[in-house]
Amino acid sequence: MRTKYKPWAKPFIEEHNDKTISLEEFALLEYPIYLEIGCGKGQFIVDMAKKNKDISFIGVERNVTCCGFTLKKIVEEEINNAKLFVGDGEKVVEVIKDNSVKYLFLNFSDPWPKKRHNKRRLTHDNFLKQYKRIISDDGYIIFKTDNVELFEFSLDKFIESGLEIVSLTRDYQQLDEFDTMTEYETNFRNKGVKINRLIAKRK
Ligand SMILES: C[S@@+](CC[C@H](N)C(=O)[O-])C[C@H]1O[C@@H](n2cnc3c(N)ncnc32)[C@H](O)[C@@H]1O
Repeated sequence: MRTKYKPWAKPFIEEHNDKTISLEEFALLEYPIYLEIGCGKGQFIVDMAKKNKDISFIGVERNVTCCGFTLKKIVEEEINNAKLFVGDGEKVVEVIKDNSVKYLFLNFSDPWPKKRHNKRRLTHDNFLKQYKRIISDDGYIIFKTDNVELFEFSLDKFIESGLEIVSLTRDYQQLDEFDTMTEYETNFRNKGVKINRLIAKRK
């Protein structure tokens, strides 16, 4: 599902920069951070923010049009506990302080099916190395995907990196209390596609 370029997105983001977070601000954040990398059009963080008003959520997204959609939801639904980083998650994970992320959500991450592109996966070694550093002792990485190949690849990577898998299902049906459906998830569930999910933590 490719997101069609929308010329309104960039000026909208500039106009509402009070709802975005810069890399410099990211570097100053303290535990507990609640983060989704690759938030797409923002359904997940906006819903989570509405359901958990005492928690601040941050979405990270590098596609400007998707950022526009996320920010539109945040602004129009008057969400005060969600912000957006416009840019690459790779930069974000480099600047976040050690042990400061309580929840890291990876929802329906791009599968990058060609082997030569595997390094771009959000569950590749370089990312996992940083996740291990930034996740708190009581923190969790929660990964959901429809893509079986990406799931098995990621599971291997999580195990190789020394993270502990505390929950794993290849048919995630009933949503956990601290979860909500993403845009992609809604589409896949409507088509009867099985959702894979794992939760990892530091050992
Ligand atoms: C397949 S979409 C899923 C969107 C949303 N999480 C959902 O489940 O509906 C993956 C999103 O991740 C974003 N993405 C991929 N790699 C990224 C990166 N390194 N940094 C930030 N965003 C990234 C893409 O631009 C895309 O919007």
